[in-house]
Amino acid sequence: MKVVPSRSSETPDAVPTRKPSSAMIEIDHVSQVFQTSARKDHLALSDISLTIEDGAFVSILGPSGCGKSTLLYIVGGFVSPTSGSARMKGKSIAGPGPDRGPVFQEFALFPWKSVLGNVMYGPRQQGVRAADAEAQSRALIEMVGLKGYENFYPKELSGGMKQRVALARTLAYHPEVLLMDEPFGALDAHTRTRLQNDLLNIWERDRKTVLFVTHSVEEAVFLSDKVVMMSRSPGRIRQVIDIDLPRPRRRTELLLDPRYQKYVVGIERMFDDGDEAGPGA
Ligand SMILES: Nc1ncnc2c1ncn2[C@@H]1O[C@H](COP(=O)(O)OP(=O)(O)OP(=O)(O)O)[C@@H](O)[C@H]1O
Ligand SMILES: [Mg+2]
Repeated sequence: MKVVPSRSSETPDAVPTRKPSSAMIEIDHVSQVFQTSARKDHLALSDISLTIEDGAFVSILGPSGCGKSTLLYIVGGFVSPTSGSARMKGKSIAGPGPDRGPVFQEFALFPWKSVLGNVMYGPRQQGVRAADAEAQSRALIEMVGLKGYENFYPKELSGGMKQRVALARTLAYHPEVLLMDEPFGALDAHTRTRLQNDLLNIWERDRKTVLFVTHSVEEAVFLSDKVVMMSRSPGRIRQVIDIDLPRPRRRTELLLDPRYQKYVVGIERMFDDGDEAGPGA
């Protein structure tokens, strides 16, 4: 599990020895220019190159407006880059696909469908028989801790519960890559911690490739194999940091672990450093 940045990479601790694996996502010299009425050409991303290996959990941190979401949208196929290319398993990404499942903060559940109906939607679209789709969906609902809520409607759920449904619904497509854009940003601290733990449990079981955008340094260090730090707009990769902490990770144990503290403080210091710091850091 390695992220190979185009620019220099530094590791606060020893580089971990992980089993070599193949590239899942390759972002190759990607730049993104947006045409806006107010600003004409706006360079949102500048020459981003990043390789994310199969099964890696990679977080992206950076100031507000540095292009984190744009990068995720490019990998998701929702935005096509102005220059450079994004590839999944060697194939150029030409548009959205079920192999890349988005879990965004603005979770868009179908309000007219129950929890079960929302989660079953993907497998049914993919042609899975109703009985099988239901069985799979019930198992996923249980996995995200919502057993007993199958027949509830989104408006009857809390924000954290809706986020769990959104995660289950995306997992039901069996995407190879999860694209998560601040999925827990709007949640209270307690719910956020619970969902982080749930996500890690699911990830440690399935080892999907995850690209995770967050503003929280602690969340990034807790979850990730790699943390990609971006600089303020126009977004560039500033540094890629290997998070060499043992798994499975337990938050309460990590909080007391000096290695965890060293990563968190080291990254926060980097953000505080000079004019690279920003409102989102
Ligand atoms: N569709 C668009 N049209 C024009 N400009 C855009 C568009 N999408 C994003 N931008 C601009 O590109 C830059 C990067 O935006 P992006 O949403 O990727 O940042 P971000 O790092 O996700 O920020 P935040 O942390 O606040 O979510 C911003 O300056 C934004 O104004
Ligand atoms: Mg964003």
